Amino acid sequence: MAKIQIEDGRVAKPFTVGWDPMDGVMDDPDNHIQRFLSKLTGMFYDREAAERHLRQHGDVLLYEVYEKKIPEADGELQFCSSITHPGKIGDEYFMTKGHFHARRDTAEVYYTIRGTGYMLMETEDGSQFELGEMLPGRTVYVPPYWAHRSINIGDEPLISLPVYPGDAGHDYGSIETAGFKHVVVERGGKPAVIENPRYGRMNEE
Ligand code: PA5
Ligand code: NI
Repeated sequence: MAKIQIEDGRVAKPFTVGWDPMDGVMDDPDNHIQRFLSKLTGMFYDREAAERHLRQHGDVLLYEVYEKKIPEADGELQFCSSITHPGKIGDEYFMTKGHFHARRDTAEVYYTIRGTGYMLMETEDGSQFELGEMLPGRTVYVPPYWAHRSINIGDEPLISLPVYPGDAGHDYGSIETAGFKHVVVERGGKPAVIENPRYGRMNEE
């Protein structure tokens, strides 16, 4: 695919982009982000299980994103191929870091292409949370002001298409320090939600 044509900080010409629905790999992406366990052990509620997993299985790839570079401007739309790999750290499923949008009053939709999972969504004080089903053909609507994280509960890659306002931005800070109040774990072979014992102090040792 040709480069996106940008004029005056805007996408100036329509374009198309494709990706493989089986592995989520995008044609000619501008960015390919890969998130490995070694950088994210602190995000799992059972940090010791994460350190153990790292020692036993090495630096596994938890998730990745392919995207085209769209201007971060009001009126544009960002989108990507978001791929969360299958697996567990202790009893907690592989997941994305999760974030609020830097511009809090911006929503997002996620259309699932492959796999099975949940979108965990929480309000800023953790008082409300929701799990949105992620299944091929279903769409999750993430309203403004809700933090969101994709969680893969299956045994194949969870591949989705997130679409969000051009200038929404990502704010990872409060998730890195406070975490999500709820975590999704496997109990008796099924997903279950428990309260995060490290909520509010994710970056303490
Ligand atoms: O903007 C979004 O919500 C997605 O594109 C995510 O950035 C993507 O799924 C990766 O997750 P995270 O940004 O939490 O690392
Ligand atoms: Ni988002």
